Amino acid sequence: MRLADKTVLISGGGTGIGRATAVCFASEGAQVMIAGRRQGPLLETVDAIHAAGGQAEYVVADYADVQHVEHSIAKTVETFGGLDVLINNAGVAGFAPIDEVTEEDYDYQTSINVKGLLFATKFAIPELAKRNGGSIVNISSGAGLKAVPASSVYGITKAAVVHFTKIMALETAEKNIRVNCICPGFIETPIFGTFIPQEKLAESKVSFAEMTPLKRMGRADEVAKAALYLVSADAEWMTGNIVTLDGGLNIA
Ligand SMILES: NC(=O)c1ccc[n+]([C@@H]2O[C@H](COP(=O)([O-])OP(=O)(O)OC[C@H]3O[C@@H](n4cnc5c(N)ncnc54)[C@H](OP(=O)(O)O)[C@@H]3O)[C@@H](O)[C@H]2O)c1
Repeated sequence: MRLADKTVLISGGGTGIGRATAVCFASEGAQVMIAGRRQGPLLETVDAIHAAGGQAEYVVADYADVQHVEHSIAKTVETFGGLDVLINNAGVAGFAPIDEVTEEDYDYQTSINVKGLLFATKFAIPELAKRNGGSIVNISSGAGLKAVPASSVYGITKAAVVHFTKIMALETAEKNIRVNCICPGFIETPIFGTFIPQEKLAESKVSFAEMTPLKRMGRADEVAKAALYLVSADAEWMTGNIVTLDGGLNIA
C-alpha cells in the first residue's frame, strides 16, 4: 500500500486518466476525492472504488469557476481531514487552424486547462504545507512540448502547464512540496469524442496508433501508474520534472 493514509484530490476524476488514477490510488490505500462537472461519471467511479473496498467521495465542480475550485479543496479537507496529493488532470481539448480560432474556444480551454489548474494549486498549497509537504502532478500533453498543427489554443494551454510546473516546483520546494508533470501521448479515453466526429473516431484512433512508434495508443491505467510513482516515496527526490509517456511519439 504505497498511499496508505494519504488524501488525494483528482480533478476530472470521473472519466479517462482521472478515473484510472482514482481507482489506482484507492487500491494503494488513498482516500480519494474526485471532482468534475457531471455527477454521473463521478458517481460511477466512486461506486467502482467502493465495490473494490476503497475509499472515495466526489464533489461536483466546474474548474472554470475559481469558487468551485476552492470549494473542491475545502470539501476534500472537510471530508478526509487534510490533503496530501493534488492531481491536476481536468482538461478539455479543441483543434482548429488559427484562422478558425474563436475567442469563445480560447476562453473555454484556457479557463479550465490553465486557470482552473493554477487556482487548484494555489488553494492546495497551504493544505499540503499543513501536512509538512506533499505532491502535485499536473497532466499536460505531448502537444505542450511539440508543435502540432491546429493546436494553437490547446498547445499553448498545455505548454503553460509545463512551465507552471517548473515555477511551482521552485516556489514550493521549501515547503517540501514536489510538483511534477506528465505529458501523455495518445491515450484511449473519451476526450477524442469531444472534438472528433463519431464517424471518424475509429479511423482516427488507427492513425494515432500508427503514428506512435510502439504502434498502439496508451491506456489510462498506464498514466495512472506513472502518476503513482511520482507521488510515492520512491520519487521523493523528483520535483519540477516533465515526464513524457507516449510510446515514443515525441522522441526528439
Ligand atoms: N487522452 C489523451 O490522449 C491525452 C493526451 C494528452 C493529455 N491529455 C490530458 O489528460 C487529461 C485527462 O483527459 P482524458 O484523456 O482522461 O479525457 P476525459 O476522459 O475527457 O477527461 C477529462 C476530464 O476532465 C473533466 N473536466 C473537463 N472540464 C472540466 C471542468 N470545467 N471542471 C471540472 N472538470 C472538468 C471531465 O469531466 P466533466 O466533463 O464531467 O467535467 C473529464 O472527467 C486532460 O487534461 C487532457 O488534456 C489526454
